[in-house]
Amino acid sequence: MRRPSKIAPAKGKLGVLTPGMGAVTTTFIAGVELIRQGKATPIGSLTQMGTIRLGKRTENRIPQIKQFIPLAKLDDIVFGGWDIFSDNAYHAATKAGVLGPEHLQQARPLLRSVKPMKAVFDKNYVRKLDGTHVKKAKTKWDLAQKLQEDIENFRARNKVNRLVMVWCGSTEVHLTANRVHRDLRSFEKALKANHEAIAPSMIYAYAALQRRVPFANGAPNLTVDIPALQELAQQKKVPLAGKDFKTGQTLIKTIFAPGLKSRMLGLSGWFSTNILGNRDGEVLDDPSAFKTKEVSKLGVLEHILQPKVYPELYGNFYHKVRINYYPPRGDNKEGWDNIDIFGWLGYPMQIKIDFLCRDSILAAPIVLDLVLFLDLAQRAGLRGIQEWLSFYFKSPMHGPGLYPEHDLFIQQMKLKNTLRWIKGERLITHLGTEYYD
Ligand SMILES: NC(=O)c1ccc[n+]([C@@H]2O[C@H](COP(=O)([O-])OP(=O)(O)OC[C@H]3O[C@@H](n4cnc5c(N)ncnc54)[C@H](O)[C@@H]3O)[C@@H](O)[C@H]2O)c1
Repeated sequence: MRRPSKIAPAKGKLGVLTPGMGAVTTTFIAGVELIRQGKATPIGSLTQMGTIRLGKRTENRIPQIKQFIPLAKLDDIVFGGWDIFSDNAYHAATKAGVLGPEHLQQARPLLRSVKPMKAVFDKNYVRKLDGTHVKKAKTKWDLAQKLQEDIENFRARNKVNRLVMVWCGSTEVHLTANRVHRDLRSFEKALKANHEAIAPSMIYAYAALQRRVPFANGAPNLTVDIPALQELAQQKKVPLAGKDFKTGQTLIKTIFAPGLKSRMLGLSGWFSTNILGNRDGEVLDDPSAFKTKEVSKLGVLEHILQPKVYPELYGNFYHKVRINYYPPRGDNKEGWDNIDIFGWLGYPMQIKIDFLCRDSILAAPIVLDLVLFLDLAQRAGLRGIQEWLSFYFKSPMHGPGLYPEHDLFIQQMKLKNTLRWIKGERLITHLGTEYYD
């Protein structure tokens, strides 16, 4: 791939479109608004708080990322989206119960102004939900046209220069690749024939790509992990990223597992259980939606620990993930890990991690970073899968024949080196012999 020769400036407004306006979306919108008002700090956001080292350690060049590369300003962001419930973002945020009343009140005028457009929804793909705020049309193709009209109307009404779409809708039932996904022609034929292998999230993604809107997939759904939509992204020159925001337990796993492996400590078992009581938890209570999440969560250790390369250490570990819907906890999830490891001479040891986390508090800054980085990617002329954004996902998208990179520290290095590469700065390898010549 050639280095971008120029980056178009981040001029004018940037529209953020989210299919799904539940806990994550409303926490993201409210947070951005509070930060804009100077009442909050963007904790958890690399684009807002992170720095990047340039050149040698002795040069002392460590600008903030947002000063180093031209990102859109928070003041230029405009919000919109779709949901199967007609609640405005203030009502949805109140129901989600993530933020306290003091935050909700301060962000209220903006939240109230964000009203969802009618959704493309089919209960066969999210069995636990029933909504009335839903588009009607004869075929999935017609629905895709209606979504494209929504996108263009939003663009014109809000006078936005650029758009990014982030799927923050519920997790859909588990789908596997089907022959109608293999190329764009088959996919479009299937849209017209209402084929069951085309899920609502794919219809949103198709509409976004057709309108040249970068797309990120925050859920573990198949969505853009299919050749047809990747072909469309290449054809329309649009960047893509996914999938499944890496927030609670999997974030911890990808911080911890690389550490065990780097010290050559063995693993015999990793049991992960979660209790959560939000709507996401309710949707995941359906075994077919849980299956989608389970596949996304299970791949992580296999790829980080490489059992084939280290059979004595990782050839035989038992990995189990459970998610239990437990309403009293709301959005405040408990992710509990029991890790059985072994060391010198095979002596066993145990590690327990109990992460009392807040799902949407961890997810909101990820949405912000993805929006800003995908917009940057589009302005820099990058298209298709953006592997450097793996940092944000449980199941990073990757090119054919490649394995996904799950190690958070490699992901971070890849992300920062990509930013250096885009700007024509020297890449940092951490070799460091030059300091001792
Ligand atoms: N919060 C996290 O930490 C986290 C981490 C990884 C992935 N995710 C995923 O992000 C998504 C959002 O999470 P959440 O906690 O906000 O869930 P949520 O249930 O609060 O919100 C999802 C919203 O999507 C709506 N929806 C469902 N199908 C839709 C459709 N076809 N079109 C438009 N709207 C639709 C629902 O009505 C709901 O309001 C879920 O898929 C979840 O699995 C969340």
